[in-house]
Amino acid sequence: MKEATPQTIYLKDYTPFGWQVDSVHLTFKLAPEATRVTSRIRFTPDPAAPAQDFFLHGEELTLIRAAVDGVAVTPEVTPEGLRCAVPNGPFLWEAEVEIAPASNTALEGLYMSNGMYCTQCEAEGFRKITYYPDRPDVMSVFTVRIEGAEPVKLSNGNPGASGDGFAEWHDPWPKPAYLFALVAGDLVNHPDSFTTMSGRQVELNIWVRPGDEGKCAWGMESLKKSMTWDEEVYGREYDLDIFNIVAVDDFNMGAMENKGLNVFNSSAVLASPETSTDANFERIEAIIAHEYFHNWTGNRITCRDWFQLCLKEGLTVFRDSQFTSDMRSAEVKRISDVIDLRARQFPEDQGPLSHPVRPESFQEINNFYTATVYEKGAEVIGMLKRLVGDEAYAKALDLYFARHDGQACTIEDWLRVFEDTTGRDLSQFKRWYSQSGTPHLKVAESYADGSYTLTFTQHTPPTPGQSDKAPQVLPIAVGLLNPNGDEVVPTTVLEMTEAEQSFTFEGLAAKPVPSILRGFSAPVVLDRSSSPEERAFLLAHDTDAFNRWEANRDLAREGLVAMITEGAAPDEAWLDGLQKVIADEALDPAFRALMMGGPSQSELAQVLHGRGITPDPEAIWTASETLRDAKARRWAGLLPRLADEAAVTAPFSPDAEQAGKRALGGAVLSLQTRIDGGAAAEAQFKAADNMTLQLTALSCLVSAGRDEAALGVFERQWSGDRLVMDKWFALQIAATTPDKAVERAEALTRHPAFDMKNPNRFRATLGGLAMHHAGFHRRDGAGYRLLADWLIRLDAVNPQTTARMCTVFQTWKRYDPDRQALIRAELERIAARPGLSRDVTEMVTRMLS
Ligand code: PHE
Ligand code: ZN
Repeated sequence: MKEATPQTIYLKDYTPFGWQVDSVHLTFKLAPEATRVTSRIRFTPDPAAPAQDFFLHGEELTLIRAAVDGVAVTPEVTPEGLRCAVPNGPFLWEAEVEIAPASNTALEGLYMSNGMYCTQCEAEGFRKITYYPDRPDVMSVFTVRIEGAEPVKLSNGNPGASGDGFAEWHDPWPKPAYLFALVAGDLVNHPDSFTTMSGRQVELNIWVRPGDEGKCAWGMESLKKSMTWDEEVYGREYDLDIFNIVAVDDFNMGAMENKGLNVFNSSAVLASPETSTDANFERIEAIIAHEYFHNWTGNRITCRDWFQLCLKEGLTVFRDSQFTSDMRSAEVKRISDVIDLRARQFPEDQGPLSHPVRPESFQEINNFYTATVYEKGAEVIGMLKRLVGDEAYAKALDLYFARHDGQACTIEDWLRVFEDTTGRDLSQFKRWYSQSGTPHLKVAESYADGSYTLTFTQHTPPTPGQSDKAPQVLPIAVGLLNPNGDEVVPTTVLEMTEAEQSFTFEGLAAKPVPSILRGFSAPVVLDRSSSPEERAFLLAHDTDAFNRWEANRDLAREGLVAMITEGAAPDEAWLDGLQKVIADEALDPAFRALMMGGPSQSELAQVLHGRGITPDPEAIWTASETLRDAKARRWAGLLPRLADEAAVTAPFSPDAEQAGKRALGGAVLSLQTRIDGGAAAEAQFKAADNMTLQLTALSCLVSAGRDEAALGVFERQWSGDRLVMDKWFALQIAATTPDKAVERAEALTRHPAFDMKNPNRFRATLGGLAMHHAGFHRRDGAGYRLLADWLIRLDAVNPQTTARMCTVFQTWKRYDPDRQALIRAELERIAARPGLSRDVTEMVTRMLS
């Protein structure tokens, strides 16, 4: 058990390890309660590194024996590792340790999931497997021997000898320990193959538990598409004879890019039309791509230290969103990414957990796998590309791969390839990596004698540890429209570098309507109070799909704010204008489905808070419901036609076209349910032959209060499928009314299929509650209490997942004093637990400070 020893690690303290690791040989003798791991590691002193004691990381290991150059030694062992006297020159280190995978519920290191052995080493899990310099800048060549009765035994690299009870693997590519992986169990594979651009034959496998073979085809197709795309777009080829993916039910995150042996949360790889929604299919395609792309951005070029995490994650998220844009609709992908950024990264960056894309200190690195490092990190790369242009971006990337292959790098290395290819000075741009918080951008306009000027002001509110903010480089994509709706100035990227800066456009016959921050060209809050007329104009005429969506979202938000704060009625003129867009069959159904949705209740709370108004979750809920009712009534005549248009007659395909239709159909059904009380939803539930249709219908029935029978039917149908049952747990909380959410979540924790040790099930249930804004923020604090009870229980089992879930409290200072007091009490109750993990201690302390 990691104890709460609040020790802070700083970026500025980086020192290289004193030795090079020439080779690593590991032997695993597998046994659930007593696995023996033998290591033989060749070290050579690194003359460039400062003098230091020989220290190897190691946690929760039982050291059986150790030797240096064949002579037994007795190292000084602490809870964090060991220190040992070693020769001045090269030497061979040997150790044997014992570990207990069956009792490892933290799911870090070597653990067991449904009788299968698997590992998770990122970030610092390898030290729970054996003594090692467990840091990303120590790279070495690994040879692994696995001994055990399990029929399938896998590790990184290419397969070597295998026989009765053993299998050997050799990975020729030097790698840090966090990319090590081992899997052993009773698994079956879905095989395929791929020929790379230089003609290398690669064997591909997706390994699953018997019974899941039928859910591998989509993942395999996604893998092959990813391999082709990375060759075509980035010129990156795969570099081993085999690529294995394994599906694991118990996993803290989405998936892991271990060299040649990716390990996936089964929810991020297994798919079939009957059991998976369109959103699942799209997410699987993106995660497979993400992990595969890490082979170059992460594995071949890795991070010098964990402060540089965004080097691999920001870039790889950026690459996977490019991939999704190419596979599907670029506009829809951009809108979805911004919805996600605002839902997860903005609250983080505007609250007590705000940190730079490259943090400067941490206590527990697991707490920094955040939306800021990942999603804002990807936005920063998008901005860089926008500033230098596509061609220069491609050149810089070529240089990055050529210059840094095989190295452990920093953000400085990354930016230097851009400076060297473009001649630009990126020192101001670099603030995006060091300055936390979301910039706010204000706009003023003036027009006289054909000349139109936009004046921007940027301001970043203070964040923890950073009170003074400097201006950032903002690429602001702007287009100008004539009053008749024609575009007079197509998208132009303005480069803002000052706190206040003006840009003038000449030769305009009339005062134009500006379309600002097209494609969401920088991750900022645009504070612009334009008139409803101007927004309606952009909704009707903007050529930029993102800003068309944004104009509508602004109108929706302002309408809801007026309903919440002034008791205003829904804006019927806006609903009529929007109806025209939604009815337009020339537009992508997926885009129209997005236009039918509004800002989330949590986002509304954030908006109100930003305007100095204390958000009332019940009032926000009521306004959102009232608006949906108004949409249903106002659009009642259109809905049947849309439902017809959304119907898919062709055989099921998870492609963007069909998924878009089903998304539109789902949005229509949820409005229809408000008119017919659930009749159409009931018919769809009975007839559904795929999970998207079935789940949408069930969600409508729950929200209409007509769910008792349907929930039972669904449960009986799917009780044997863990992933579908996760949906069943989450949905009945998400779709219910605020007064029932806590009771439902509480009842579900007593359901026989609830299993706190399975992160997916825990997240579906307790995470499901936290996602229900008004239900979780119930006035009496019952939501907070239930969640805190379970976080306390889970911390003793799985600190990493507990710490991630704690973040649902990060917005607590938005709310009224009574709610704040209730949340503070729960956070303090958690903080006071004896033996609380380092992970949760750090999160709760940061949220309370
Ligand atoms: N590196 C993984 C990814 O982004 C995420 C991960 C981190 C998985 C830590 C497990 C543990 O793809
Ligand atoms: Zn990643």
